[in-house]
Amino acid sequence: MAFSFFNKLRNKKEHLKLIRQELDRVRAVIAQQIEPFGPHVRPYMDRVCRGRGKLIRPGLVLLTAAATGGIRDSHITYAAMLEMLHMASLVHDDVLDKADTRRDEPTPNALWGNELAVLLGDSLLAQAMVMGSDLGGPRFIRRMALSVRELCEGEVEQSTRLWDADMSRADYYELIRKKTATLFALAMSGAAMLQELDDETVDHLERMGTLLGIAYQIYDDCLDLTGSEDVAGKTLGTDAAKGKLTLPFYFLMESSSEDVAARVRGCVERREPIDFTNLRGTDAFHEAIRLSVDEGLARTAEAREVLWMLPESPARAALAEMTYRLDELLEDCCS
Ligand code: FPP
Ligand code: MG
Repeated sequence: MAFSFFNKLRNKKEHLKLIRQELDRVRAVIAQQIEPFGPHVRPYMDRVCRGRGKLIRPGLVLLTAAATGGIRDSHITYAAMLEMLHMASLVHDDVLDKADTRRDEPTPNALWGNELAVLLGDSLLAQAMVMGSDLGGPRFIRRMALSVRELCEGEVEQSTRLWDADMSRADYYELIRKKTATLFALAMSGAAMLQELDDETVDHLERMGTLLGIAYQIYDDCLDLTGSEDVAGKTLGTDAAKGKLTLPFYFLMESSSEDVAARVRGCVERREPIDFTNLRGTDAFHEAIRLSVDEGLARTAEAREVLWMLPESPARAALAEMTYRLDELLEDCCS
């Protein structure tokens, strides 16, 4: 069973006592969001909203708020809204990836088919927008809308660039910035905006969120190749099967083992799923994962540099702890 990111953290340090109650409030707000829907929709929304997520984005909102003056009611709503946006994107993502399991449960597309899953994702997105529209002025709402656009843009680019051997490593980083780091950045910058902090601090926190989001997606991309479905609680191996060229692929295509490099490049050129069963035991594979993990670690280290600009506080320590936990998850991909 997949353990919550925060549970894992909590077991290591007591810092998350800080936001335990607020995370419960966020869960309660999410549960309330099914009420506006009619009786024919509510049971589906109830099922979709019941998922046990890791609550990373709400955690970032709450800790950023706590580290910059205190958690307000608006932060609770905002944290719930971001989690719903994230859930909406996953409902759609599982359709695109034909994934049948997430968070140890069957996905909406597996339960009810693609059509209903897409509509439920849209409904969640719309409800998240309703929540967000009450929170701040036009500047705040515009930032939110731009982030959702970037998130969608990242997915469109990903879908249109499957098996694209011309896609550069810089393109990969830009793609994962859009599809994953945007919401991490929005979590931290939005929390700071609700706190009415100055633009420079908002930008710093946005940068920290971006770095964490990129590191997290690198971890997720490594996990897709190294993890076990039982532990991850979701369908894995979809990247290699679908032609999503993630960071380990770049290192494999550039591997000093010419045999491996040619094999992987050949598969990409022929748009042929790469068979990792034979590759997994090779030094080239381990090296590709190691190099990818190092890229992730470099970003969490940079994220901490930004973090140290905030005044020292228990919430800042908890944010630092999250970055160290991400380092551990990255390292686990190498073992
Ligand atoms: C997970 O990626 C998916 C995302 C990071 C974003 C998905 C976004 C969309 C489908 C656009 C639609 C957006 C909204 C708001 C409705 P992954 O497949 O690499 O990770 P996984 O292994 O968890 O599936
Ligand atoms: Mg997916």
